[in-house]
Amino acid sequence: MPESTILFTPPVTTATVPSPGRGPATAPARQGSVFVTGQVCSREQRRGRYTPESLAHPGKMLPSIGRYLINTYTEIGEWVCDPMAGIFTTVVEAMHLGRHGIGVEYEARWAALAAGNIRLATAQGAAGTGEVVHGDSRHLPALIPPELHGRIALVITSPPYGPSTHGHVRTPGPRRGKVAKINHRYGGDAGNLAYRHHDELAEGFTQILTGCAAILRPGGHVAITARPYRRHGELVDIPGMVAAAGINAGLRLHEECAALASATNGSYPGHRSSNSATSAPPSPTATRNGSSSTKT
Ligand SMILES: C[S@@+](CC[C@H](N)C(=O)[O-])C[C@H]1O[C@@H](n2cnc3c(N)ncnc32)[C@H](O)[C@@H]1O
Repeated sequence: MPESTILFTPPVTTATVPSPGRGPATAPARQGSVFVTGQVCSREQRRGRYTPESLAHPGKMLPSIGRYLINTYTEIGEWVCDPMAGIFTTVVEAMHLGRHGIGVEYEARWAALAAGNIRLATAQGAAGTGEVVHGDSRHLPALIPPELHGRIALVITSPPYGPSTHGHVRTPGPRRGKVAKINHRYGGDAGNLAYRHHDELAEGFTQILTGCAAILRPGGHVAITARPYRRHGELVDIPGMVAAAGINAGLRLHEECAALASATNGSYPGHRSSNSATSAPPSPTATRNGSSSTKT
C-alpha cells in the first residue's frame, strides 16, 4: 500500500513563493502526484547505509521517499528537519545529498541508534552534517538551536499511530498459521504519542506542526507521510488527521500525493514482499482511503 504524502507551505505573505524543483542539475524530474519510490525494497535501500541494530525500529520511512522530497524541495547546503525522527532516515538521506539535517526523537534508545547512523553516514563521506536532539517535539522551537529558526527549508516527518500497525512479522513456516510480531514497540513510555488516544495524537501532532511553521524558512515545505489503518474493523483516517493538523497549525495545504512502497512494472504497482509485478492489476493510483499495512 502507498504512503499518503501531504505537503504544506507557510501562509503566503509575499507575492511569490519559490516553486519546488530548484534543486541541482542532478535532481530528478518531479514525479507528479504519485512518487515511484518502491522500485528497490526497504531492506536493500538500507543495507550498508544504516546500522543493523537500528533496523529494529518499528516504523521506519522508506529512504527513497525522503530522497525524492529532499531533491525536489531543497538545494545543496540547506537544512532539513524531522521532529519525530526515529532512526533519522530523513537526516541520513539529507546528509548523503549534501544537505544538513537535524532530528528530534522522544525515545533515548532510538536517539542513540540514530547517532550511530549519522556517524556511519559521515564515515561514508556524506557531504552534509547531522544533529541528534533527544526530546519532546511538542516544544520544537525550544529544542532547535535559535540560529536555525527561519532556516529550515524542509520538514519531513511521519507520526506514530496505531501500535498494531508497527513492527515486523515472522511466521514459523509456510501455512503454519500463527503470525508472531517482533520489534513492534517504540518504547515503554506512555508519553510517546504512539500510545496516546487518537484525539491526543491529533492535538500533539498539531502542536508539533505549529513548531515546524515557526522554524521554516520563507517558501519552505512540510511533508508528512502517513497511512490509514484499521482498528477493530474501522478505518482510522490518519492522512485526514494530518491534513487537519497542518491547517490548524496555520500551514497552507500545498499538495496530497501517494508515495509507492511497492515496485511498478509499467503502470501497475507490484506486491512489495516479492517486488515483482502483481498478476491482478490494482488501481494504478492511490487514494487516502487505502487499507492499512505494516510499515517497514
Ligand atoms: C513513525 S516513527 C518515525 C520514523 C522515522 N521517519 C524513521 O524513518 O526512522 C515516529 C517516531 O516519533 C517518535 N515520537 C513519538 N512522540 C514524540 C514526541 N512527542 N516528540 C518526538 N518524537 C516522538 C516515536 O518514538 C517514533 O520513533
